[in-house]
Amino acid sequence: MFQLNDKTVIITGATGNLGRITAQICAAQGARLALVGRDPQRLAEIKQTLAADCAADIFVADVLDTTAVEAMVTQVAARFGQIDVLANLAGGFTMGALVHETPNAEWDAMLALNLRSVINCVRATVPHLLTAGSGRIINIAARAATQGSARMAPYCVSKAAVVTLTESLAAELKSHDITVNCLLPGTLDTPENRAAMPDQEHQNWVALDALAAVIVFLASDAARAITGAAIPVYGRS
Ligand SMILES: NC(=O)c1ccc[n+]([C@@H]2O[C@H](COP(=O)([O-])OP(=O)(O)OC[C@H]3O[C@@H](n4cnc5c(N)ncnc54)[C@H](OP(=O)(O)O)[C@@H]3O)[C@@H](O)[C@H]2O)c1
Repeated sequence: MFQLNDKTVIITGATGNLGRITAQICAAQGARLALVGRDPQRLAEIKQTLAADCAADIFVADVLDTTAVEAMVTQVAARFGQIDVLANLAGGFTMGALVHETPNAEWDAMLALNLRSVINCVRATVPHLLTAGSGRIINIAARAATQGSARMAPYCVSKAAVVTLTESLAAELKSHDITVNCLLPGTLDTPENRAAMPDQEHQNWVALDALAAVIVFLASDAARAITGAAIPVYGRS
């Protein structure tokens, strides 16, 4: 596994399925962690699961609240002195309606959760990475970004926008030694997905620790030459 010794990593969505295991693996690789979420109780529970010698703290922020995100990033910089990695894991999924029957509120909610959340965190964090003179931004798009699907337009569009945002940011920041990449996970092997799709081949889905390992790689020095990439992580699906 790739070392993250003394790198300060902000993880949004730290209370989620992917966030939790990413935090654990980053901690095991020596990172200092800012665990970001909305629920302090659940963040504290995640912190308890980390390697005992890990410098980790919890930071409560709604990633849709621009002011709260600015405050959170300021607090992280004050706590750890430097920010090295922003892992934008917060996001979500919805499906059901046909495009011509999807109300604006549903579009707004999906675009906010999957795109505006990333924009808010990027806007607050990039000045710190520029000051540091290097950095890593890792966004989570989805396989669904590569191909529109029926009854999933808001989700597909929001994740496709994350890919394009990643490319634009990478172009803007490459000369500052700040890499920006996104992952395109297929279906993750989560309890929620197993409950929703009990008849599917779960062993073909993407294991959470396998996806977290790719995040750790992108955060590490080993990935310093990769920027602007949208990396498929499909498992066997
Ligand atoms: N699950 C899949 O099959 C799959 C496939 C492809 C891509 N992805 C993407 O992978 C990422 C992680 O997925 P996951 O399965 O781990 O999701 P998850 O378990 O549902 O976790 C989502 C996380 O985002 C947080 N979050 C949601 N809204 C927030 C807000 N307004 N402010 C702050 N935090 C907020 C949640 O916090 P709360 O607990 O407070 O709600 C939670 O920690 C997401 O971006 C998802 O879209 C997932």
